[in-house]
Formats: sequence, C-alpha cells, structure tokens
Amino acid sequence: MSTLVIVGTQWGDEGKGKIVDLLTGRADVVVRFQGGNNAGHTLKVSGEQIIVHLIPSGILYPDTLNIIANGMVVDPSVLLKEKESLQQRGHFLKDKQLLISDRAHVIMPYHRIIDHGREEFLGKAKIGTTGRGIGPAYEDKASRMGIRVGDLLRPDILDQRVRSALDEKNFLIEHRFKLAPLDPGQVVEEYLDYGQKLAPHITDTTHVLYNRISEGSRVLFEGAQGTLLDIDHGTYPYVTSSNVVAGNVCCGSGVSPTKIENIWGVVKGYSTRVGQGGFPTELDNDLGEEIRRIGGEYGATTGRPRRCGWLDLVVVNHSVRLNGLTGIALTKMDVLTGISPLKICTSYELDGQLIDRVPANTKDLERVVPRYREVKGWDEPLGLCRSYEDLPKNARDYVETIEHLTGVSVNLVSVGPSREQSILRKSSF
Ligand code: GDP
Ligand code: IMO
Ligand code: MG
Repeated sequence: MSTLVIVGTQWGDEGKGKIVDLLTGRADVVVRFQGGNNAGHTLKVSGEQIIVHLIPSGILYPDTLNIIANGMVVDPSVLLKEKESLQQRGHFLKDKQLLISDRAHVIMPYHRIIDHGREEFLGKAKIGTTGRGIGPAYEDKASRMGIRVGDLLRPDILDQRVRSALDEKNFLIEHRFKLAPLDPGQVVEEYLDYGQKLAPHITDTTHVLYNRISEGSRVLFEGAQGTLLDIDHGTYPYVTSSNVVAGNVCCGSGVSPTKIENIWGVVKGYSTRVGQGGFPTELDNDLGEEIRRIGGEYGATTGRPRRCGWLDLVVVNHSVRLNGLTGIALTKMDVLTGISPLKICTSYELDGQLIDRVPANTKDLERVVPRYREVKGWDEPLGLCRSYEDLPKNARDYVETIEHLTGVSVNLVSVGPSREQSILRKSSF
C-alpha cells in the first residue's frame, strides 16, 4: 500500500497541479476528493500548458486511473468541455482513464445563479467567489436537497428532485434576484443528456478505490484550494464551502484514515490570495506587482489578478498542524530571484501581544501586524537547476529556514512550471 495526499497550505494556487502531475509518474490512481471547478490546476509538459478544473491532474498519463470522488461537486457541462478540450489536444483518449462517483453532487444552473446573485447583493462585503455555484451546491448537499451524479441516470428520480428543488430556488431567482424562473422540464432534459454522455464514467468509486488500495496500487489524493480556504479552519467567512484539509480525504473519497500514509503540503515561496479576506503579509505596492508579473499570478479559473505578499509561516504552520504534514513541496522559488532581502513572517502582533496562530476572527486577522525574519536573496536564475546542490547558497538557506521553522522536511523544490523543473530530494511514495 502506498498513499500520498497533496494539499495546499496557503490560499490555493500553490502549484498543486504541477506537483500532482509530476508525482503521477509514480502513481496508479489519482483522486480529487473535494471542491469543484473553482479549482484551476496548471500542468506544463513539453512546452504545452493545460489547465484542469475538475478532471484530476493525473490525466496526462494514459495508464493512470483518475477519480472524481464523492466529496466533489461536479458541473457536468464544464466536465464535458474539459474532456473535449483534452481530447482535442491528444490527451484523455480512453474513457477508462476517468471514473466519477455516483455519490458526487451536481452543480445545477440555479446554483450558479444564486452564487452570482448573492455576491451582487453583498456588494463590498462579497466573498469574491469564483461564481461557479460551488457554495450553493454544497448547501443543497447539506440540506438534503442536492442532485447526485447517479441521479442523472434515473429520469424519474431526477425529475422529482429537480422539481422539488426548483419550487424553492425559483422563488429566490424571481423575487430576490429578479430573474426569469427556470423551467424544470428543460433543466431535466439538459441534465439527462449530460447523464447519458457521462454514463461510461459513472460508478461507485469508493468500492473501486477500496479494491485498488487492497491490491497495493499507489494512490495520490489531489487537494484543491488551500488550507486557509477550508470551511472550518480557514479565514471564515472568506473561504470555500468544503473541507480542504487532509482529513477530508477520508470522507470525500470513502477511504479509511488507516490507509493514509503520507501527506505533503504545497508551499509557494511567497503568498498569494484571490478574492476577499485578510492577508497579513500582503504587499500592496510595486514589489507585490513585480511578484505578480514575474510569477504570472493571475487566476487559472477566473483570470483575476492574485494579491501577492511575503511568505507567511504562521499560515504555513497552521497547515502543518492541521494536515499533519510529512513533507513539503516548495514551489516558485525561481520567482524570488533578484529580490533581496527576502522577508519571512514568523509571528503576528495583535493588541501588543505576539501570537503564532491564525486568529479565528476575520477582523482580528485584518488587524495583526506581521513580524518578519529577513534573509538574503539571490540573483541567479533557478530555472535550470536540477539538483539541490545546483541552487545558490542563499536559496538553499531559504529552503532550510523553512524546514527549521516548520519542522517539516522540504522533499521537493520546484524552480519553474515545467515537469522537469523539479528537484525531488526525498520521497517515500
Ligand atoms: P494550483 O491551483 O495549486 O494547481 O496552482 P495554479 O495552477 O493555479 O497556479 C500555479 C501557477 O504557477 C501555474 O501557472 C503553474 O504553471 C505555475 N508554477 C507551478 N510551479 C512553479 C514554479 O516552481 N515556478 C514557476 N515560475 N511557476 C510555477
Ligand atoms: P485551486 O485548487 C485560489 C477562493 C475564491 C474565493 C473563495 C470562495 O486552484 O488552488 P468559491 O468559488 O470556492 O465559493 O470561492 O475561495 N478559491 C480559490 N482561490 N485557488 C483555488 O483553487 C480556489 N478555489 C476557490 O477566490 O475567495
Ligand atoms: Mg489554481
């Protein structure tokens, strides 16, 4: 048995897709267990860039099984478009490369309308969601009103469940958001059609995973978003609507906690955030803009500019503890070339007191003053480094400072977006 979980340790976009694609070379199965097409995971192989939103990042390997597990919310129209676009580029040529859980929840058109409508009403207080209907779909799951992927194959059940949901949603759509109500018949017809198209992929994936793990397959679990966007442990209310932390691998895919062996957190060498919410180390200045430009920090899903700032180890250590990280994959080190000194946030000051935890209250998070350790930068470009020894001394010191201050080994250093721009130092997977 060999299982490895990859999670984001910051506010998402740490480079999880790149790391999962790289490690899929050693995996038999890749599983997404939460979130939906709010995610944008970028893969770069042989000069080609591919962004996946729903399909796991193992899809570029023709013999790896990819699973969209029960904890995800799936927009079938997006999934079908993603499949088609991958196929046009010569990938995902076999249906058996992807299985979708019959228990995963479906994002319906009314979820997208409600997501947008609410954000508009909130105005300045908006969350800054991706507008993909993620929150409303998870709400319906919790309120037992959701439509599941398996329902798309059952015309009677789908009809009854869509009508019952629309009874309530159309009230909101018409009276709160002042839009035309949705026609249940049309929605059912459209979604039955999606069901037919997705049918070859739909199954009880929990059972498949159980068997594959029992047989000794090597399984990679691909997190989406980042720990600070976790609905319980993130910067509530500026979070996503699912649990992002490694613990949710088990609920989100039906795998027992006793089967999880390794958990790596992806740490970007600096911090970024898309959407609203506290961000103590944000650089709202020329340097922040420079990092955005060099790092190409624009949302892979919405294209929004990402807010940039110094590496925040209060945040990373929050993730170390919550996920029980056994290793770190450190990304985008190349982006820091030429910036000196570099600052690493090691604690916050709140009302005159030093704290090393992320406060629960968003107002407190907005008020904290970050305390920094300054370290020397380096001028050498890192994109061609292929071994740890190739890195300049100050870059190695940066890596080792992170190891020292988190107590977690940096097992992988990434020096560019491409698969080969990776230095694998240790791996038990
Ligand atoms: P994810 O959501 O965590 O998968 O990350 P995204 O794909 O949204 O954003 C990460 C961005 O950084 C993508 O454009 C990647 O191609 C890119 N990337 C990943 N690792 C590195 C790296 O080490 N250096 C550079 N320069 N870019 C990287
Ligand atoms: P990956 O997997 C960065 C953010 C949104 C918003 C908040 C809630 O690519 O790292 P939602 O649409 O989920 O209700 O939006 O969460 N967000 C992400 N930020 N990377 C992501 O995914 C994100 N997924 C959601 O910007 O602030
Ligand atoms: Mg992303």
